Amino acid sequence: MAQLSPSGPVLVVARPGDTQDAILTAVAAQQVEAEVISDLEQLAAPWRTAAAVLIDADQAERVATRALPHRSAVYVVGQDPALLATWSAPLSARVIRLPEGAAWLGTVLGEGSSQRRAPVVAAIGGSGGVGASTLAVAMAQLSAARAPLGAALVDADPFGGGIDLLLGAEGVPGWRWPRLNSASGQLGDLRSYLPVIDKVSVVSMARGEPLDLAREPLAAIVNALAGWHSLVVLDPGRAEISVREAVRLSSVQLVVVAAGVRAVAAARQLMAAHDLTEAQLVVRPVKGGLPTGLVADALKRPVLAELPADGALPGAAEGGVAPLSAAGRRYRRAVAALIDELGAHHSIERRAIDA
Ligand SMILES: Nc1ncnc2c1ncn2[C@@H]1O[C@H](COP(=O)(O)OP(=O)(O)O)[C@@H](O)[C@H]1O
Ligand SMILES: [Mg+2]
Repeated sequence: MAQLSPSGPVLVVARPGDTQDAILTAVAAQQVEAEVISDLEQLAAPWRTAAAVLIDADQAERVATRALPHRSAVYVVGQDPALLATWSAPLSARVIRLPEGAAWLGTVLGEGSSQRRAPVVAAIGGSGGVGASTLAVAMAQLSAARAPLGAALVDADPFGGGIDLLLGAEGVPGWRWPRLNSASGQLGDLRSYLPVIDKVSVVSMARGEPLDLAREPLAAIVNALAGWHSLVVLDPGRAEISVREAVRLSSVQLVVVAAGVRAVAAARQLMAAHDLTEAQLVVRPVKGGLPTGLVADALKRPVLAELPADGALPGAAEGGVAPLSAAGRRYRRAVAALIDELGAHHSIERRAIDA
């Protein structure tokens, strides 16, 4: 496929300070190449070749006066809404407001990177036991079955009991979290070290050992996986720190919500606490519960899919049978439709074919 958009290092126009810090933190987390410029005399060449241009709002006026050619993937970054609004139009730039936009900054950089990277999807339960882990496994399984590169499944739930159990994979050799905790920086292809089941590479919590996620190299692991798979699915559970990390590292956030009054209230709290303003909903209809449209209205986010109840899933989970092998057609279809939806917006299939 012809590569029409520029793919040079990301251009950062910023002087030292909070905004430059925020941008460079995201650059480091996404492991993209970046060029930082504060001397605007040097701007013209990288302006044409950079995959994306991030401009500190404080520098926006100076950049605008240089009358550079129009280009896409330009972002003005800063804290002052008035300043951001002023320079967005003259620079044909989108606005990233800090600190709320920090996660989006990471996404922009990940997409702007010339490295091929899979979408990273976080499956977050709006309330407990709603089927988020099951969905995470099913998405990874289905995506792996379709895409030549396979999928990765990252269990970051300190209280989840190990996602490998859900896949029936606890006996499959490979590294679990404790063996990975020295990983950092640019990791290579992890596939040969991880348990791989039907093309799903699994990074799983080990049972019994407490894990301090703040000190785990989750960003490095997720980044490495995204370079070698067609889809990365994160299962953070509902613990504060793991959800926060998953939101930070994912390009797509799905909130699985049961269509009941209390479940919706719980989801709303979780979404507010984690500023999940870009999340999409996966609704589990409940007998006598709320219609899906009402759930969307209450949470003010779009519904990506409805996930039907499937009576075979609880038994499968207990027996170590993977969800896709156990679930009936309606559940499988719903997951397939969900993957298609994500593919339409995030080009999972195209990446797979390119690979
Ligand atoms: N669509 C579904 N229909 C019926 N049971 C389900 C469904 N999804 C998950 N379950 C069951 O619900 C229980 C909790 O699922 P799990 O995925 O661990 O939830 P969570 O990760 O949100 O806490 C498990 O027994 C699982 O098999
Ligand atoms: Mg779970």
